[in-house]
Amino acid sequence: MTRILHIADLHFGAEHPSLVAAFKDTARTLKPDLIVAAGDFTQSGRKREFEQAADFFAALNVPAIGMPGNHDTPVRALHERFTRPWQRFESRLRPHLQPRHDSEQVRIETLLTARRAQWRPDWSLGRVALPALKQALDRLNPAGEMAALRVLTCHHPLLAPGGARGRARTARAAQAARLAAQSCDLVLTGHLHETFAEPCTIDQRTCWFVGAGTTFSLRTRDEPAAFNCLDVTPGMIRMVPWEARSLAEGFQPAKARDLPLGG
Ligand SMILES: [Fe+2]
Repeated sequence: MTRILHIADLHFGAEHPSLVAAFKDTARTLKPDLIVAAGDFTQSGRKREFEQAADFFAALNVPAIGMPGNHDTPVRALHERFTRPWQRFESRLRPHLQPRHDSEQVRIETLLTARRAQWRPDWSLGRVALPALKQALDRLNPAGEMAALRVLTCHHPLLAPGGARGRARTARAAQAARLAAQSCDLVLTGHLHETFAEPCTIDQRTCWFVGAGTTFSLRTRDEPAAFNCLDVTPGMIRMVPWEARSLAEGFQPAKARDLPLGG
């Protein structure tokens, strides 16, 4: 079994310190093999927020995979945002977050869907570059080799409950979801601050699109702070959302859900 903790939308700068402490305790108990962090590590892309996030991952001491979200480029330093949008992430967080992972059990690729700017007014929405997606999917499927589980992770949802509405209006999402469903088993995302697992079956094979809640920010919208614990075994992923409904209780397991893989 491989245990993956899927966390997202940490939003350091707006985090609740007691939830950070509660998460560290719970992670120590769960003993994950890997952490997948689906973007939005900071609230405003400030240097000190990236440093807080770097300290958090250094203290966890678990191999972590991740890429930036829309909050991880400077909000106020506009010249830097336009000329070097991901430099703060690369210099401060990249040493703690790998862009990919490869083992016999699990192969993981990241895809950048956040943009420094867009032609549409809401720059927080995601956009998929199809050549970059195809490159990631090719890396997940090298000729002659088959990992037990092929995972793509990006910040913005490719397929979400309720369809491409509101904050889920990721550009080229429908095309991207179809391509991903043909070439991988699991797509892990954040951004919506919502826990979900949606299947997409093509040619009798099912790919799961899984969203994580915001792990310890106060920006919880209608959902509790949460993360997902994913236990991967041949042919099956057991997903347990861990939710913090109150600061006093910390993170508690919600109802488990089995996500069958394959045909
Ligand atoms: Fe986001």
